[in-house]
Amino acid sequence: MFGTALPAMPPAAYYADPSASRAGLIGLAPMEGVIDVTTRRLLSAQGGLDWVVTEFVRVVDQPLPPRVFHRLCPELAQGAATADGTPVQLQLLGSDPTAMAENARIAVGCGATALDINFGCPAKTVNRHGGGASMLKSPSDIHATVAAVCRAVPDTPVSAKLRLGFEDRQLALQCAAAAVQGGARWLTLHARTRKEGYRPPAHWEWIARIRHHVNVPIVANGDIWTLEDYWQARALSGCRNVMIGRGLLSDPLLAARIRHWQRTGEQLPTTQWAERAAVLRAFAEGLADDLPEKVVVSLIKQWLSLMRQHDTEAAERFVHLRTLRHTDDLLDALDGPATP
Ligand SMILES: Cc1cc2nc3c(=O)[nH]c(=O)nc-3n(C[C@H](O)[C@H](O)[C@H](O)COP(=O)(O)O)c2cc1C
Repeated sequence: MFGTALPAMPPAAYYADPSASRAGLIGLAPMEGVIDVTTRRLLSAQGGLDWVVTEFVRVVDQPLPPRVFHRLCPELAQGAATADGTPVQLQLLGSDPTAMAENARIAVGCGATALDINFGCPAKTVNRHGGGASMLKSPSDIHATVAAVCRAVPDTPVSAKLRLGFEDRQLALQCAAAAVQGGARWLTLHARTRKEGYRPPAHWEWIARIRHHVNVPIVANGDIWTLEDYWQARALSGCRNVMIGRGLLSDPLLAARIRHWQRTGEQLPTTQWAERAAVLRAFAEGLADDLPEKVVVSLIKQWLSLMRQHDTEAAERFVHLRTLRHTDDLLDALDGPATP
């Protein structure tokens, strides 16, 4: 069970509710430039999330100052949990085992209670330096990196997040096995290659193949937008646990709705626009004190833009909201009719 696979995670939501753990855990996916501390707080407050993961801390070849870890993960100062107690896992990205190990030690010294290693980032700038998805070309490099991190922080659970491959899926099983042999306590699998980017479909059935090949829990990830997707991803991957990114930005209540379904078998109605707009408003309010208005406006638009991919109400509003420049105008328009 996941609970036993994550013994050192802080006591939090899923320990408090074993029935939820049995039903299957739900994690919030890391998303660089999108899922920051405010978003993590807001989304975990909607309920249904068992853990969240930070954007990646990029490791090159030097130890990073503690402030870098605290900036990306302010929750380190409060027991590595969000305000409502959801555990926060810190993600590292890098290809130099020595530097990764050193930075893992610093992260744990700063308060990290669980680490994840990114082997999925498709960004060219990252891949050029051998990090993220480019590591999927070399299972032995994955092994070396995970093993170095695990050795450096033996009392801290370390997981790995992988795609199915770089160009193709030929090394999918080897990469997963390498991460596990290196000491990863669980794997999160984004069911696409780097070449496939974010294009549907996610190949959940490939997760099932990998699951049979390794002996640690697997978290299925990719393209879970609805309750139906959730069950299909579970059925095809055979995984109990999932991680959701864009689906939770599109419908911030998705995890809560899945949890309700797990517990009662009852499907809650689709999340109303007013509920989505309330989350965007809270997001704007959460950012307003710390960031210039221009940045707040662009972050609200970024979230709305992700929402619109699966939500016609958001799509209709995005058309006229995209030209607005002031937070108040944006928030008024969010509360107003879809077509003014
Ligand atoms: C804008 C954006 C940023 C992302 N940043 C990260 C990241 O920092 N670390 C990581 O492991 N994955 C990152 N991902 C991948 C997601 O965690 C996730 O694997 C992917 O979006 C598929 O899941 P989803 O369909 O539920 O969104 C990012 C994805 C997007 C769209």
